[in-house]
Amino acid sequence: MKITVINGTEKHGVTYKLKEAFLEAFRDKAEITEFYLPRDCPDFCMGCTRCFLEGEDKCKDREYVAVIEKALLEADLLVFTSPVYVYHATGAMKNLLDHFGYRWMPHRPAKEMFGKRAVIIAQCLGGGGSSTVKDIKDSLSWWGVTYIRSISFKLMSDIKWDKIPEKKRAAMVSSLKRLAEKMSTMDYSKPARAGLLAKGKFLVIRMMQTGLGKENPEYTDFKYWNENGWIGKVRPWKESWQK
Ligand SMILES: Cc1cc2nc3c(=O)[nH]c(=O)nc-3n(C[C@H](O)[C@H](O)[C@H](O)COP(=O)(O)O)c2cc1C
Repeated sequence: MKITVINGTEKHGVTYKLKEAFLEAFRDKAEITEFYLPRDCPDFCMGCTRCFLEGEDKCKDREYVAVIEKALLEADLLVFTSPVYVYHATGAMKNLLDHFGYRWMPHRPAKEMFGKRAVIIAQCLGGGGSSTVKDIKDSLSWWGVTYIRSISFKLMSDIKWDKIPEKKRAAMVSSLKRLAEKMSTMDYSKPARAGLLAKGKFLVIRMMQTGLGKENPEYTDFKYWNENGWIGKVRPWKESWQK
């Protein structure tokens, strides 16, 4: 199986140690590709909107985004990690998610996303874990991913790994190992089932795209939906690309 990890920080601190604990169960059975932010997507989305209107290849940062996107599309399991920064995901993580705005369902979602599984790992000193998870989950679910598990920790102690009480470290590692055990014994030859919410969102947007296509058949997003057969009877959760 293939795992793609998006690390919301380059630091080898607490988030890194927690992510390593989660990945341990997969080391001998998965091909793991990791990206560290901001290093692997260093420049900001400037809001030029060319990805939406003209195509993703027009993005000034495409050389970075394309590499990450390829790894995300090829993976069976997506892992996103972030420490909480001022109650939210790191700016570097948010910047990457902004670069994938065009992959939100109202624009040009990738059909592969509808069958994927994802895990979000967050940690904070005391507050902001759930809003940080939500920052990432909002994008994943609007990309079409429906199987999303999240885990977040409150350190309530020092924020340096070696100074966190041993009992606390052991409890966090043990929770991550339990989640990893569950995730590593799944049958990845079958795609995750797309939930009702994702299907509902897709169908509402399909109506919207159909209307937009009537007004302007050359509209980039409509053309994409049409080429995928989604304006017709094809649905991304039923396609033959799924194993
Ligand atoms: C800029 C910055 C902002 C932070 N904001 C919060 C916060 O809002 N809530 C919180 O509980 N911890 C906050 N923290 C602590 C981090 O979430 C985290 O626990 C700490 O950075 C250790 O993780 P790391 O070693 O992976 O960087 C913040 C840390 C930094 C550097």
